[in-house]
Amino acid sequence: MKKIFIIIGILCLLLFSLFFFLHFKDKDLSYEDKLKNTGYSTDEVALILDKVAKKNYDLILEIGYDKSLINILTSNEYKEDNFEDYIEYYMKNKDSNINDIITIINSGYNLMNYPASTLLATLVKEKYYINENVARYLDYGNNTKADIKKIIGIVNSKADLGFYSTSYDSNLNDDNLILVNKFYHLKEDYIPSDLVSLSGQYNKGNNNKMRKEAALAFMKMVDGAKIDNIIIYNLSSFRDYDYQVNLYNKYIVRDGKDLADKYSARPGYSEHQSGLCSDLNNISDSFEGTDEAIWLQNNAYKYGFILRFPKGKEDITGYKYEPWHYRYVGVEAAKIIHEDDITLEEYYAYYIEKK
Ligand code: DAL
Ligand code: ZN
Repeated sequence: MKKIFIIIGILCLLLFSLFFFLHFKDKDLSYEDKLKNTGYSTDEVALILDKVAKKNYDLILEIGYDKSLINILTSNEYKEDNFEDYIEYYMKNKDSNINDIITIINSGYNLMNYPASTLLATLVKEKYYINENVARYLDYGNNTKADIKKIIGIVNSKADLGFYSTSYDSNLNDDNLILVNKFYHLKEDYIPSDLVSLSGQYNKGNNNKMRKEAALAFMKMVDGAKIDNIIIYNLSSFRDYDYQVNLYNKYIVRDGKDLADKYSARPGYSEHQSGLCSDLNNISDSFEGTDEAIWLQNNAYKYGFILRFPKGKEDITGYKYEPWHYRYVGVEAAKIIHEDDITLEEYYAYYIEKK
């Protein structure tokens, strides 16, 4: 009797196992079959089963046969974890390039509501891309067809909004990295508290004050240049608000406001009021290309100084090329600005303002 029970028990267990085996086998088979019935070839089905998580099979069946799905799965950039996002974005952008769709999703930014485009896919790969600026990048890029780095630079620096269109207080807490330009200004009464005078071989001008750290770096730079037989000296560093009022007004009388704005800052908007910059050697276009100008372009960053208004960046800085105007920002920032060929505006937007 006991034996019979054991045999019945074993039989039940076998039947139960068989049922489970067939049940799950059927499920797998049915997905395969369903995919095949949708129109996918045997190879394509194998690809789907290999590259898509099981939980997303229903999503594929819902869509039905779509060759683009295979293109997504065979892209080098395909990431299984992003599958649902690719599909969601693809469904909104059926006519767009699959690689652009994948790049935009892989960027990790939430761009679901922006139409997929090659411009957007190119933007998200740029080092200085800031996601909050995306709508303005696209506007500016589509309207001007400018080069990608220019689009990022112009928008990050706010230049697309128009110079002097909005005005913010410069943030004194930014210290050596303070931004003073056509958007950020210093108050009328602002005078740095740590100005020191440059003298002797370091100065040949009347405006010879600089903030202490900048002045020490300036002197080190002049000493370094001298070893290379290059003579550098300050002509004009700190200028207070009232001084800039007179200077700017004088330029307006001479050249008119539009032209004056291209080379002179309005009062409060000049970084000379920050005590962190110097016009050196020769305040004239003829300084360009001299041994001194070339030495500075190649070496100033090592001492924490940058060429503040470079050639080709006029639409970002808002000023014509000034080969004589150097600005102290500290060695760390100067190195990045020099090596990445960006302006202080671009550096500030990405490294200071974005945080
Ligand atoms: N020349 C520069 C832009 C100034 O006036 O500050
Ligand atoms: Zn200057």
